Amino acid sequence: MPQIPQETIQRIREASDIVEVISDHVQLRKAGRNFVGLCPFHGEKTPSFNVNPELQFYKCFGCDAGGDVFKFIQQIDRVSFTEAVAHLAQRSGIALPSTGQQPGDELSDQLYRASDLAMKYYHHLLRQSEGKEALAYLQTRGISDQTIDRFGLGCAPVEWDAFFKMATRRQFDPAVLERAGLISARKEGKGYYDRFRERLIFPIANLSGRTIAFGARTLKADQQPKYLNSPETPIYHKSSTLYGLHQAREAIRQQDCVLVVEGYMDFLSLAQHGIAHAVASAGTALTEEHCRLLSRFARRVVLVFDGDEAGSAASLRGLEVVLATGLEAYAVSLPGGHDPDTLVQAEGPEALLALVGAAGSALDFHLGQLARQHDLRTLDGKARAAEAVQSLLARCRDAVRRDLLLREASQRLGIGEKAFRQQLQQTLRRQTLRTAQAPQENAPASQAAKNLPSPERTILGLLLQYPRFIGPTAQVVRPEVFADPRAQHLARLLFDEYHQAKELDLSGLMGRAADPELVQLISTCAMVDIDEAQVEQEWEGHVQYLQREALTRQIEQLQQELHKAVAARDETRQQDLQREHERLRKERQTLLPSTPP
Ligand code: UTP
Ligand code: MN
Repeated sequence: MPQIPQETIQRIREASDIVEVISDHVQLRKAGRNFVGLCPFHGEKTPSFNVNPELQFYKCFGCDAGGDVFKFIQQIDRVSFTEAVAHLAQRSGIALPSTGQQPGDELSDQLYRASDLAMKYYHHLLRQSEGKEALAYLQTRGISDQTIDRFGLGCAPVEWDAFFKMATRRQFDPAVLERAGLISARKEGKGYYDRFRERLIFPIANLSGRTIAFGARTLKADQQPKYLNSPETPIYHKSSTLYGLHQAREAIRQQDCVLVVEGYMDFLSLAQHGIAHAVASAGTALTEEHCRLLSRFARRVVLVFDGDEAGSAASLRGLEVVLATGLEAYAVSLPGGHDPDTLVQAEGPEALLALVGAAGSALDFHLGQLARQHDLRTLDGKARAAEAVQSLLARCRDAVRRDLLLREASQRLGIGEKAFRQQLQQTLRRQTLRTAQAPQENAPASQAAKNLPSPERTILGLLLQYPRFIGPTAQVVRPEVFADPRAQHLARLLFDEYHQAKELDLSGLMGRAADPELVQLISTCAMVDIDEAQVEQEWEGHVQYLQREALTRQIEQLQQELHKAVAARDETRQQDLQREHERLRKERQTLLPSTPP
């Protein structure tokens, strides 16, 4: 590895306050001499992540992560030391000596560099002759020069391989560009072509502000797809990335509230109109990972979706996910066919903020939807509505909030609280049972498939489409590594089926499943788009992801038991648990460096 002079490293370290750098990722609060917050490296509810400003050091007592400011960047962005130094140098405006300076060689370093090159290239072209049409389009959409520059908007030229040629002239390895999702190999053998052509480019940044992926909008009215997005890569995970969060983070923190919109254009339009505490989910359904990420910055989440059917359905799903992560959930339905962008353009930001200010709680929204579906004046209507509300309440993991919601719901539906509570207990019990052993009898089908964590959907899709991976998968993981009970069930079926027949008969399986929800799940997963050229890597990455997630769940559970053992002063059990905890953590560490789906 090329050497950066020790003095330079020292200067960069001094210029990069660890509290400031970490605050980009974690909401820290002062506690004595230290700062504490929720650890970004493992899931936790009570803060065990400490930052010491005097020593310029961080340490998590939950997962043992720790180090200096460089180590933090290495861990959070998964880059080499050299790349972390280069990043912090740039952040603090310190020039690195240019002679012989090559940042690190890890795959993620290279992917970051490739994405950065693409971002700069597309942005530059927007103001050249190639970008005339795209720039004019942005202007008709009311996007200002300032917004364009702030968010690095760009355009991809019309040629088949303009970016590819430029990048290879700069000695970028085609394999890396392909892995970054910027080019694809031609089917007929030799050569590559650009993924993005003749499109408006929206760079997507991670929390450190580095470009990790792109959204690309067509300029033609009738072209499909309207938006083409980067695939998942080792540095881009859709289920944990929100468009605009890097820029919006500070405003979100100040407002203790985040607006979630659906589109890139919605986000930009809001930002330009001074509504700075918004992010866009940009083409994926809101996941628990998204919400956990948001919970580092705010306690309240307001979903601002279109007022149409699709928007309402997405809001309902989203609200359940938000509630499940313990955040306060609200939703706004926009009137008159508006999306957030058209609304602020037509009626100004005040109009949107007024709607947000009056946003109904998750419960309000849910009851409003139910009132449209059932006649709440009749006994039958009430009973059905009560049942539907139960499923929302059951998703809420915070017992206190669940209780408050329950009281409010029973009042609003005019149902005795006691009966309602009993029903909820039953729902919760059923849910636990389901999670434990009988995953097949679950909630509404279409919803079931959509709520499935996206990596789990992808791997199941992969197994269904490329059954040759079923055997190897069954050899390395058990169905229990799937967090979702339905996914577990399907995995078990696939493993069994394959074990017996050594091949997969998909329609036979669907016939035998005889369970509409499972059939639905199978068909949804079978549709997942998997790049044939990447299937090995996808498989490997996803299997590791499953193993890691399963370990994380086990570790979290152990931690809870450890707390109990401490409270009960049971020392032997404490020691046993600690040993087990240590073992699992070590095991997880061996899975950490490679970074899948
Ligand atoms: P919309 O169709 O509402 O687009 O999709 P939009 O953001 O309002 O864009 P304009 O105003 O028509 O230009 C919302 C979001 O869903 C994702 C994109 O992130 C988009 O911003 N999407 C949509 C896709 O990923 N692919 C698509 O084909 C369409
Ligand atoms: Mn729009």
